[in-house]
Amino acid sequence: QADTPAAKPGAGEKISRVGVIGAGQMGAGIAEVCARAHVDVLVFEQTRELAAAGRARILRSLDRGVSSGKITEREREQAAWRLRFTSDLGDFADRQLVVEAVVEEEKVKTEIFRELDQIVTDPKAVLASNTSSIPIMKLGMATKNSSRVVGMHFFNPVPVLPLVELVTTLMTSSDVSERAEAFARDVLGKQVVRSADRSGFVVNALLVPYLLSAIRMVESGFATVEDIDKAIVLGLAHPMGPLALSDLVGLDTIKAIADSMYEEFKEPLYSPPPLLLRMVEASRLGKKAGHGFYQYPASGRPSAK
Ligand code: NAI
Repeated sequence: QADTPAAKPGAGEKISRVGVIGAGQMGAGIAEVCARAHVDVLVFEQTRELAAAGRARILRSLDRGVSSGKITEREREQAAWRLRFTSDLGDFADRQLVVEAVVEEEKVKTEIFRELDQIVTDPKAVLASNTSSIPIMKLGMATKNSSRVVGMHFFNPVPVLPLVELVTTLMTSSDVSERAEAFARDVLGKQVVRSADRSGFVVNALLVPYLLSAIRMVESGFATVEDIDKAIVLGLAHPMGPLALSDLVGLDTIKAIADSMYEEFKEPLYSPPPLLLRMVEASRLGKKAGHGFYQYPASGRPSAK
């Protein structure tokens, strides 16, 4: 029999029911772009309070979309209607695609994949992780059917940045990777690049050593935070410098990515410098915490520390 979508019922079935796990910076952004693309979205958060905070985060972003003229009032209303929240992973049983976007901790993510594998019974459903650095195979091996596990790595802020890195493992089926790619490209309007399943994938493998080098420069007194950022913005025409970008990503997330990449490659340049460790220990996690290399008043522009 020919290897066509008709011969494999459902292989080309359009994804219209998505689950997002976590409504932090990334989960909220992924849920928002799905809802704006007319997809039914169910978002998991650990508690009702975190779910309410996640919902408020998405509504604020939709409001910004209206005030900047990117979406209409009606589109904002419709997107808000398509978003539902739950604190019970069991509610994900009918999802055709689940994107996991919780904290960058292998133990937390593998436990979620182990549970999801039992809950989402449709063998054609795609189980994706937005991890920045944890090899996707490790998450796939927590499941009984690793052929449906892929990496879908979005960029922050998700409504603004058009890239998705699609990461397939030795076990991912081509149907699953094609469905995930078609969803990102045709439904969400993103551009997709493919990466091998190596910690950091393409973008973070290049970005993270650069961010860590900038943190080491601050640590050694080589130059100030403001001057390093100014040099890169004015000298290389980057939209922001490495320390402002570190604050945007989240210093806890950068530390976790660096740890995973160091574990994978054992290269000293991936090892998190002590200043980064101390800032994470002090909960100076960057923009999301209101304080990192810069301070972030609840409203207004970042200011020097
Ligand atoms: P965040 O700190 O804003 O959100 C973390 C989320 O994890 C929250 O929803 C929180 O409730 C949830 N969480 C924490 N502990 C949990 C647990 N034990 N069980 C279940 N949920 C738990 O972090 P962010 O920035 O949204 O990052 C999430 C993922 O996205 C990470 O894997 C990160 O590497 C990846 N990522 C981050 C980017 C960034 O620029 N921040 C860019 C691309 C990917």
